[in-house]
Amino acid sequence: MLTMFDSTENFLLTSLQLMSALFIFVIGLAALWAVYAYLVDSTQKTQAIRRNYPVIGRFRALFERLGEFFRQYFFAMDREELPFNRAQRNWVYRAAKDVDNTVAFGSTRNLTVPGQVIFVNCPFPTLGEDAVPSEPITIGPFARQPYTTAGLFHISGMSYGAISKPALEALASGAAEAGCWLNTGEGGLSPYHLESGADLVFQIGTAKYGVRDAAGNLSDERLQAVAAHAQVRMFEIKLSQGAKPGKGGILPAAKITPEIAEIRGIPVGVDSISPNRHPDVGNTGELLDLIERVRRVTGKPVGFKVVLGAYGWLDELLGMVHARGVASAPDFITVDSADGGTGAAPMPLMDDMGLPLRVSLPMLVDKLTEYGLRERIRVVASGKLITPADVAWALCIGADFITSARGFMFALGCIQALQCNKNTCPTGITTHQRKFQRGLHVPTKAVRVAAYVQNLSKEVGIIAHACGVRSPRELRRFHAHLVQADGRTIGLDQFYPESERQIVAALSWPRDQIEVVHASEHRSRPSPLEPLRESSLEPRIAARKSAPSLHAPVE
Ligand SMILES: Cc1cc2nc3c(=O)[nH]c(=O)nc-3n(C[C@H](O)[C@H](O)[C@H](O)COP(=O)(O)O)c2cc1C
Repeated sequence: MLTMFDSTENFLLTSLQLMSALFIFVIGLAALWAVYAYLVDSTQKTQAIRRNYPVIGRFRALFERLGEFFRQYFFAMDREELPFNRAQRNWVYRAAKDVDNTVAFGSTRNLTVPGQVIFVNCPFPTLGEDAVPSEPITIGPFARQPYTTAGLFHISGMSYGAISKPALEALASGAAEAGCWLNTGEGGLSPYHLESGADLVFQIGTAKYGVRDAAGNLSDERLQAVAAHAQVRMFEIKLSQGAKPGKGGILPAAKITPEIAEIRGIPVGVDSISPNRHPDVGNTGELLDLIERVRRVTGKPVGFKVVLGAYGWLDELLGMVHARGVASAPDFITVDSADGGTGAAPMPLMDDMGLPLRVSLPMLVDKLTEYGLRERIRVVASGKLITPADVAWALCIGADFITSARGFMFALGCIQALQCNKNTCPTGITTHQRKFQRGLHVPTKAVRVAAYVQNLSKEVGIIAHACGVRSPRELRRFHAHLVQADGRTIGLDQFYPESERQIVAALSWPRDQIEVVHASEHRSRPSPLEPLRESSLEPRIAARKSAPSLHAPVE
């Protein structure tokens, strides 16, 4: 009779035999595969590496791909990576999670690198009780419905299509909570923009998605329908964006769902490529005509987004505004940096075209001053402005508002996997695959979006107070220095001396009167900002979604 010990021994022996048989089988299979791969590699004619190094040459592509991830986690220093380094990303992650964002021991930033910006502190910083919230600013005093907001920091255009539904919902709800605007990007207006209740800037891209007729031309009826949504506060005509000046939007076919195709009015399964400029805007006069038309039809402020390039164009534009009258001016200009982000762009345009913001922002602000239009045309700056110091720099130079796209992607959990064009974003932000979208929990991320805006605005305030002014919009060029090649610093006011020539007389306009009559209620949150909680946001998101008026057809 078999004892229990014998049966256990038998079981173990049989298992061992099975496992060794399996092991030999797997090794045999691998050897067979290696022989097969060797024959294929050494006879194929398309890849030199595989032909010269059969079998092992195959691992090169795998290692190159894995390197992207390993570098980020193991090898890259905190301040090393591009487009955004770990220190920048971590600041945003922590601000968005609303956790302690202080650092210990000492700065890891090398303060001798030429081009670094250093703020210059005042011997007598502003006391907490003397600090004041930023003044509200009115955009579009000549529009029937100007827009007034105190917010400094807003969400830059990212179309529904380039980003996913849950990403858009989280951004929109976060924007509503934080009281900042959300730019639709060029992909039209979706129900997910509207259900949030956030202030929206509707972007008119070169394909005019969402506001075009059957022939692809701008339709006044559709413009009116979009403008009829009270939430749509302004219209932005996109001339160009930093990552691809001279190229229209690109939405790869893999990312075009039937819903996105319907919102844009395009076919499914074909890359959606917008023209590389507005077909109806071939010169400065036609741009001012279009701005005037959109403002007349919608009654709302209208501006344009541009990457500055060719010198001289701003003189032509602002000179023409002088000739036509102050009311003809764009209500705002969004100046995007050449190193801006995108869902997809050709590399030569992304790397080598257009002026970076450190050149174009002072240029724009100075030209507006020269032409006496500094208060008439508001300046929105975008391009890698994702931390408090970046935003404070732009305010020093003269920006009225700052917008960011990728800062908000980090707030949503982006890990800079650089796959926005592949529909495989591992964090669900730029993919329409549900398996990846699952990880993006809308109420949690909406709270993070709002917390990012709040904490960033708070820390820009800290910089302003250390410089001795009462609010961020009082920052001026002399509040910051630039590190030069010899290690010495120079004030931004000397490096970018502000323009003194001014042609104001012809363009005076009754600012106060217009603002008081038309100013819409501004939506900035009270300060100090009440803490946001996911649990408090979830019912509010649900309530907004079920409000019937918000689901009105959008096109
Ligand atoms: C995924 C993605 C989609 C974008 N889509 C648009 C768009 O539709 N229209 C546009 O004008 N800019 C678009 N942009 C550019 C951003 O609005 C912004 O100008 C640029 O990324 C610079 O800001 P950032 O450095 O804060 O990202 C997109 C950027 C990203 C990353």
